[in-house]
Amino acid sequence: MTTNTLSKHVFSIEDFNLWYGNDQAIHQINMEIPRNEITAVIGPSGCGKSTLLKTLNRMIETIPSVHTSGSIKYNNQEIFAKKQLVEELRTHVGMVFQKPNPFPKSIYENVAYGPKIHGIKKKKVLDEIVEKSLRGAAIWDEVKDRLNQNAYGLSGGQQQRICIARCLAIEPDVILMDEPTSALDPISTLKIEELIKELKNDYTIVIVTHNMQQAARISDKTAFMLNGELVEFSDTDQLFSNPKDKRTEDYITGRFG
Ligand SMILES: Nc1ncnc2c1ncn2[C@@H]1O[C@H](COP(=O)(O)OP(=O)(O)O)[C@@H](O)[C@H]1O
Ligand SMILES: [Mg+2]
Repeated sequence: MTTNTLSKHVFSIEDFNLWYGNDQAIHQINMEIPRNEITAVIGPSGCGKSTLLKTLNRMIETIPSVHTSGSIKYNNQEIFAKKQLVEELRTHVGMVFQKPNPFPKSIYENVAYGPKIHGIKKKKVLDEIVEKSLRGAAIWDEVKDRLNQNAYGLSGGQQQRICIARCLAIEPDVILMDEPTSALDPISTLKIEELIKELKNDYTIVIVTHNMQQAARISDKTAFMLNGELVEFSDTDQLFSNPKDKRTEDYITGRFG
């Protein structure tokens, strides 16, 4: 995969369908995800948000019953192509989960883990990556004096920023986030939201959230999903102020979900 020429859209999704066994969870989705913007995916529980997100870095393939049809291109290259290596895709497309999931290791080791796997051994280089990633995740000042302490000793909000730093350490192009603040208190949530807005300068963010206010606060574009379909995908201001589809309007005005 070549990233020398970057496409305008990080992902181009065409006529995409996904089944868990016989149950179709994603129906005929067409969507282009713009580079260096924040795209939010909203919709009621079970509508397929996580499924769609986990497809983008092929994490979904860990579930054996899954099969798909259609096309998803990352940077103009088909992600399901036989020659496409999953490991390589995942170095470009990182992921942050709902519950902070640091390893039971030191703060330093959590962040150095990915680069080490990619063969970086020099302590000085690793030190630099760790500092840069922790700074990028807006947590350096809070942890710089205790890098050798276990990450489990941190608060939930700090752990989530460590997980974001761990993701930044592999220098991704896209960061997928699945409800990254739903396990956090309001102050930590705001910190992460501020961080996400800053990350947009250097990365493309796709964030699943069940919190419509969060989508409205931070995203440039919003996708509304219902029953596995993409009902509407618009500029966030437009979607919340002037939805095109009656189902979007019903959802954002709280009539269901
Ligand atoms: N591992 C799985 N096996 C079978 N069905 C699944 C699995 N994961 C999710 N589903 C089903 O796919 C649909 C979409 O789920 P999901 O993507 O988790 O929705 P959301 O993230 O919007 O809540 C739901 O009907 C759910 O029950
Ligand atoms: Mg989900």
